[in-house]
Amino acid sequence: MKALVIQTAFGLENLAVVDRPDPVPGPGQVLVRVRAASLNYRDLLLAKGQYNPKLQFPRVLGSDAAGEVAAVGAGVTQWKPGDRVAGCFMPHWTDGPITDAAAKVTFGSDRDGVIAEQIVLEERGIVRVPDHLSFEEAATLPCAAVTAWNALTTAGTGPGTTVLLQGTGGVSIFALQFAKALGARALITSSSDDKLARARALGADAGTNYKSYPDWDKWARQEAAGGVDVVVEVGGAGTLDRSLKAVRTGGHVALIGVLAGGSAFNPLPVLMKAVRVQGVFVGSRAMFEAMNQVIVAKQIRPVIDRVFALPDAPAAVHYLETGSHFGKVVIAV
Ligand SMILES: NC(=O)c1ccc[n+]([C@@H]2O[C@H](COP(=O)([O-])OP(=O)(O)OC[C@H]3O[C@@H](n4cnc5c(N)ncnc54)[C@H](OP(=O)(O)O)[C@@H]3O)[C@@H](O)[C@H]2O)c1
Repeated sequence: MKALVIQTAFGLENLAVVDRPDPVPGPGQVLVRVRAASLNYRDLLLAKGQYNPKLQFPRVLGSDAAGEVAAVGAGVTQWKPGDRVAGCFMPHWTDGPITDAAAKVTFGSDRDGVIAEQIVLEERGIVRVPDHLSFEEAATLPCAAVTAWNALTTAGTGPGTTVLLQGTGGVSIFALQFAKALGARALITSSSDDKLARARALGADAGTNYKSYPDWDKWARQEAAGGVDVVVEVGGAGTLDRSLKAVRTGGHVALIGVLAGGSAFNPLPVLMKAVRVQGVFVGSRAMFEAMNQVIVAKQIRPVIDRVFALPDAPAAVHYLETGSHFGKVVIAV
């Protein structure tokens, strides 16, 4: 079978679609015929050696895939051939708080990833995908969507709250859709006026261009008198200082990403404004299932920017690196 592999060294130039042995499900495992996978910023970091410097080569890339159950191993009771499923980002985090052990098991890092024609998943690390979603749409959910869902729900997002979203990548566009589904007001930034217009069409209540208006924290405070309730912080150290200015006293910053680079921030506003800064690491299977219920109830459709075929998967990763996408980049398998 074919798979997208980081071959012998870090660097996007070392990505290739190559033959790998067909996987065989063992006891408690399920063989999935992958129909689509999606890319995350993490895949760029992984391929460049910035996520797991101890990565062993060759390593199949990717954390997010959806497909059909093709066969089940001994003892599997919950799944049968033909079921439409997606894998969980952390197959050992089923419910409750995250644990050290669960956080250590992720696809594409310590074990092979899922951008492949066939994958083996553990029975407990699988969810059924909503009927109204295509495989391409379902493949966008395991990392970006669950992360956005975890961030917003942990922060208490709901009617009467205002959330601030940064940029229009995978996590932020899901956060926009979920914030609106949860009844919140959504503010969003982008480097592109065209993307801001698309975000408005998706339900964003207001937007500003963080390149032409770098003081987006001031804008956010004006939009939400006194500051926003929740920031979905995907920029990291490079945006955190402004996020802490944008958030209200007693507000919540969901710390998720590292897009803006930077390495230092001033902790004083966290104390002086009594802000809750909550690290988010994707989410559990229970969160994935709760999110899917809302996706079904509200008939939410993930926003796919572009679909590449598996032989073009290295080009898809290069495309993600340009940051020109809006929402998710998908690989049809
Ligand atoms: N902690 C976790 O569990 C978790 C899970 C998922 C993702 N992440 C992290 O979250 C971040 C986002 O991931 P993703 O997959 O959504 O990435 P992505 O789809 O590649 O997002 C790219 C977009 O981010 C925006 N962006 C880049 N630099 C920015 C800046 N300085 N300020 C505001 N927006 C900026 C740009 O939007 P515009 O083009 O609109 O400007 C860009 O197009 C990454 O750092 C990723 O590693 C963490």
